[in-house]
Amino acid sequence: MKAKRGSGASAKIWPGDALGVTFQAVPADTRDALRLILDQSFTGIYLWHARRTLRSVAWVREGILEESSIGLTMSTMLGENIGYVAYEAVAPAWRRKGFGSLLLDDVLQFLQARGASRILACVRPENVPSVLLLRSRCFERITFRSVAHSRGFPRAVRLWARMVVAPGEHVYHLNLESP
Ligand SMILES: CC(C)(COP(=O)(O)OP(=O)(O)OC[C@H]1O[C@@H](n2cnc3c(N)ncnc32)[C@H](O)[C@@H]1OP(=O)(O)O)[C@@H](O)C(=O)NCCC(=O)NCCS
Repeated sequence: MKAKRGSGASAKIWPGDALGVTFQAVPADTRDALRLILDQSFTGIYLWHARRTLRSVAWVREGILEESSIGLTMSTMLGENIGYVAYEAVAPAWRRKGFGSLLLDDVLQFLQARGASRILACVRPENVPSVLLLRSRCFERITFRSVAHSRGFPRAVRLWARMVVAPGEHVYHLNLESP
């Protein structure tokens, strides 16, 4: 079974109530239980950084199905109205069933409720599932140059530094206020 999917701008946030999955915050002292999903989802420096972020990031949310964690998001605010999805991962056995979309919708709603009107995320262009997932929620690619031009160089530097954008990664942006 696959979760129902919205389309277009009106589907930017779709409440994840399908398939019996529920979402909950994961407090810092119980986050280690989610390391297995990270181990199954990332390698090398990304795995190292994902584990490190799991411990330190402001918010971790997990999707629960049949009392098991099927995936997680890690997120924070980069500024008063800028939310950042630092990581998202779905356990391999649960991929391609719509849960990644539900987790993304959940974290978008969560960040919006905390004042975010814009959301950022980074992804390597060869990570096709992730790029398509972001695009399905109307994220658009932005570049350092375009942000420096529109918002000023110092602000662009601050944002890129806070996201720890690795060489070769692309930055995606969602404006929750655009029609
Ligand atoms: C990216 C990820 C979270 C997607 O989770 P998922 O549960 O498979 O996502 P969904 O089933 O909701 O799929 C959403 C869309 O993503 C795209 N997608 C997902 N997996 C794909 C694949 N293997 N190949 C091509 N497109 C894919 C599709 O466009 C899909 O929509 P569709 O099924 O209608 O075509 C998952 O693949 C994952 O955990 N990857 C490893 C960790 C990672 O790279 N995270 C992102 C960087 S932090």
